Amino acid sequence: MLLQQNFRQSSETQGIVHRYDVVSALVIVRSLDLKLHNLKGTDWTVCMRLSDKVIVVTGAAVGLGRAAAARFAREGASVVLADINETEGNALAGKLVAQGLKAVFVRTDVSREDEVKALVNAALVRYGRIDVLHNNAAILLSDRDLPVHELSLETWEYVMGVNLRGAFLCGKYVLPAMLKQGRGSIVYLGSPTGIVGCAPKLSAYSASKAGVAGLARAMAAAYARNSIRVNVIIPGTMDTPMNNYILCNDEVREQFREAVPLGRLGTPSDIEGIAVFLASDESSYCTGGIYMCDGGLTAV
Ligand SMILES: NC(=O)c1ccc[n+]([C@@H]2O[C@H](COP(=O)([O-])OP(=O)(O)OC[C@H]3O[C@@H](n4cnc5c(N)ncnc54)[C@H](O)[C@@H]3O)[C@@H](O)[C@H]2O)c1
Repeated sequence: MLLQQNFRQSSETQGIVHRYDVVSALVIVRSLDLKLHNLKGTDWTVCMRLSDKVIVVTGAAVGLGRAAAARFAREGASVVLADINETEGNALAGKLVAQGLKAVFVRTDVSREDEVKALVNAALVRYGRIDVLHNNAAILLSDRDLPVHELSLETWEYVMGVNLRGAFLCGKYVLPAMLKQGRGSIVYLGSPTGIVGCAPKLSAYSASKAGVAGLARAMAAAYARNSIRVNVIIPGTMDTPMNNYILCNDEVREQFREAVPLGRLGTPSDIEGIAVFLASDESSYCTGGIYMCDGGLTAV
């Protein structure tokens, strides 16, 4: 008797559930249909992994920084673009905003303490927090960076000023906000030249990039208990304005391509995946890491 009653109640309940299921399914299908219609032309490789993150990107006007910044914005982040190149920086910010994304350009020379302070202040005033510093700005002075006995102190200091002092200043001034928030991610751009002597002429650039890796590791150890992660991405030979001086020559370009185990030069989009990973919470157990993104260049 009791069993029959339970069975009847359960069948009736299931019947109701089934009817609701059918109605819900129709509503879901209709809303998916509408969403798909609205999302025609959407980049399906993007999953909004950086929603609610505020990311400062230095050297964001061209090259690898530009690609990373645009991808961060497409992943839902509010992006603060910093560069000395106002024309390209403003143009990128305008383009992203026109696409309905969140971006602002702040003209910044990362080697200048007052300008880095102003950048951090502008980011905090605009967005109220800084979750990620993508420290990408750097210079490579192909005509003046030379073997040590020929290298001028002026060039050494200029390169160190942008590449290493800039890395220090940007880290120094974003850290108070991250410490207050109790979390953050800092990503530095290193170079194979900071690990192996693959560019014997580029003494200052190589030393600055080795310095960046050392700085990042010290910071990773110092701030781990504050949940602030610090990592380094090492690109290989990338097809960006920085390398125009070698890649504009077809023969030299071919030699550089041939030296890459994966058989091709890197492009700015090659950096996006690892940059998103390190900026996102998906890398929450990663700090003090040095991530090669070089097509295998330093593996051989
Ligand atoms: N391209 C490569 O093959 C390669 C290889 C290894 C590492 N990297 C590193 O990756 C990063 C990006 O390289 P890229 O090839 O895109 O360089 P890039 O020269 O193409 O772009 C660098 C950007 O930094 C900006 N910049 C220069 N000085 C600045 C300053 N004082 N303040 C603010 N911004 C400044 C430039 O205006 C430019 O927008 C750099 O840190 C570089 O050292 C590049």
